[in-house]
Amino acid sequence: MFTHPGILGPRDRIEHVMADNTIPSITLNNGVDIPQLGFGTYQIPPRETKGAVLTALEAGYRHIDTAQMYGNEREVGEAVRESGLSRSDVFVTSKLNNNAHDPAVAVDAVARSTDELGLGPIDLYLVHWPLPEVGDFVDTWRALEGQYRSGALRTIGVSNFQQGHLERLLANTEVVPAVNQIEVHPYFQQAPLRAFNRDHGIVTEAWAPIGQGAVLDDPVLAEIAGQVARTVAQVTLRWHIQRGDVIFPKSSSPARAAENSALFDFELSDEQVARIDALDADRRLGPDPDTFNWVPA
Ligand SMILES: NC(=O)c1ccc[n+]([C@@H]2O[C@H](COP(=O)([O-])OP(=O)(O)OC[C@H]3O[C@@H](n4cnc5c(N)ncnc54)[C@H](OP(=O)(O)O)[C@@H]3O)[C@@H](O)[C@H]2O)c1
Repeated sequence: MFTHPGILGPRDRIEHVMADNTIPSITLNNGVDIPQLGFGTYQIPPRETKGAVLTALEAGYRHIDTAQMYGNEREVGEAVRESGLSRSDVFVTSKLNNNAHDPAVAVDAVARSTDELGLGPIDLYLVHWPLPEVGDFVDTWRALEGQYRSGALRTIGVSNFQQGHLERLLANTEVVPAVNQIEVHPYFQQAPLRAFNRDHGIVTEAWAPIGQGAVLDDPVLAEIAGQVARTVAQVTLRWHIQRGDVIFPKSSSPARAAENSALFDFELSDEQVARIDALDADRRLGPDPDTFNWVPA
């Protein structure tokens, strides 16, 4: 079909929109690239996970965040394999469960995650929680270092580590975590820990980027959303992107998953960013990593 060079045909239009919405990547401290936007799968039941992840991949997501604790690694792997995308085009993160804080158990747990996902070496594997009174996260980390060196894991990192946990880890082990995945949203901005991560070459990943829905009724965010003709969720996610953090909002709704990925064809002004910065309320939603020691039965 002839298309006038000045008029976009349907296919061109799709490519044009996708080009505007290209997801940037961040290079981790071991040279591996991670897409700055991913899709979170916490609380997506296993029977719904394959469909949700396939829909996310169709919408353009190329990074999926799962965990042993979520019970849906198998379905994440099935979706990636059935998507028709090359394995190297999709970045997959999983996390060591809290009952695996023992070097031998951790090695078995890595093998189990690898088997469940069925995608070869996992792109990024995290110690999910430091659990300061359960085993010793330094020993657990050394076990992951071994798995990283052997090539079973492409990259390793931590989650919910406070500065003190990181200081102990950095002083006693060799591989610097590539990421620290922590709770961050406009009401809990974590400035000192994000600065510590940055100063040590550790990328901050922000979990609960829209505060699990808590920020959606905020009047300041609503006003900014009106100014840029976007939703509150998009404004909040865009704020994270401009701060340079990695995010993976979760949604069980295909429409909201698509909404959450349309972040790369608009920008917040410095003034709008400053107004969101001013919303910090030190309001943590999840457990405090210094005192959280929960282990599944
Ligand atoms: N490392 C850790 O300890 C840890 C802890 C928690 C989470 N995470 C990871 O981080 C990911 C994201 O965090 P999260 O799932 O806790 O919270 P979140 O992404 O901040 O929020 C998810 C909630 O917001 C709703 N939502 C999503 N998009 C929306 C939109 N555009 N408009 C209105 N509501 C919307 C979702 O409902 P619907 O599904 O109905 O849309 C869901 O209730 C998780 O999925 C998981 O991968 C890691």
